[in-house]
Amino acid sequence: MRTLKFKNGDLMPAVGLGTWKSEPKMVENAVEHALKNGYRHIDCAAIYGNENEVGNAFKKVFDSGEVKREDVWVTSKLWNNAHKKEDVIPALKQTLKDLQLDYLDLYLMHWPVAFSPEVKFPEKDEQFLSLEEVPLSETWEALLEAKKQGLVKHVGVSNFSSTKLENLRKETTEMPEMNQVELHPYLQQNDLLEYCSEHGINLTAYSPLGSGDRTEDMKADDEPILLENEVIQKIAKKHNASPAQILIKWAELRGTAVIPKSTNEGRIEQNLQSVGYELDKEDFQEIAKLDKHYRYVKGDAQFATEGNSYENIFDE
Ligand code: A2P
Repeated sequence: MRTLKFKNGDLMPAVGLGTWKSEPKMVENAVEHALKNGYRHIDCAAIYGNENEVGNAFKKVFDSGEVKREDVWVTSKLWNNAHKKEDVIPALKQTLKDLQLDYLDLYLMHWPVAFSPEVKFPEKDEQFLSLEEVPLSETWEALLEAKKQGLVKHVGVSNFSSTKLENLRKETTEMPEMNQVELHPYLQQNDLLEYCSEHGINLTAYSPLGSGDRTEDMKADDEPILLENEVIQKIAKKHNASPAQILIKWAELRGTAVIPKSTNEGRIEQNLQSVGYELDKEDFQEIAKLDKHYRYVKGDAQFATEGNSYENIFDE
């Protein structure tokens, strides 16, 4: 499998298991099955509400000696209600406790948006903290401090536009090593990919299969179903692969990491087997034409209030 290289030479396996939307009662088995079947990269977050169960799987597999902790890349993310500098390390320590780990390989600022500490999902404007009150650079500096303390090996961000990365660049001595964003053939992120590669930032593609298991309130009535796209299905047939495998392989070949979520044992295995396929120039040309800047995860359902609109989050 391809790997992504970090500045100190550390290598992140390109294909990982996503755990967003994985129900707590399913995720323990999913992570255990993934690790026992070759996955060496697991993507987590505090807000997914399942880190305890992911941690149970880590403990079981690492204690059994079947897989070593140091051979697995574990990412987690800081929720938006812990952006103040004094809240970052306590939030990280809670994640480490839940995951039953001594360190993370990568810790990301989940969104460029801050909430009051007691708020998980804001319903009113007052529940946000403005970026003047808690600048992104303050949260970022606290992440760097966590790295200095050895709690995490690498730090990065998620859902950051190139504008926000550029602003951060002016305010910090050390740039994020990773930006995790929604990325798939309907949202190919070519400009962001270019900006990140110019500045030595790796990208991870989330929702690579179109995240069809989002709750209804997160879905648009007329949204396109990526796995049913005719071009993807045609390419899948040509390679004797599944549409999901084509989407994963496409992301991997573009040099990004990719974190398809599944709690189904067969699909967990199938998704990793995507690394064995190849795509040709024609496939790439056809997939390139599918880009329509379509976001499945708009942020607005969770974060839209006057000062934190969809436009503000992605700077578009
Ligand atoms: P399940 O967990 O039942 O396998 P994303 O990674 O874009 O968020 O997409 C996750 C969704 O895609 C889930 O509904 C997941 O269902 C489904 N999924 C994961 N792997 C596959 C696959 N190989 N084929 C079809 N659907 C898949």
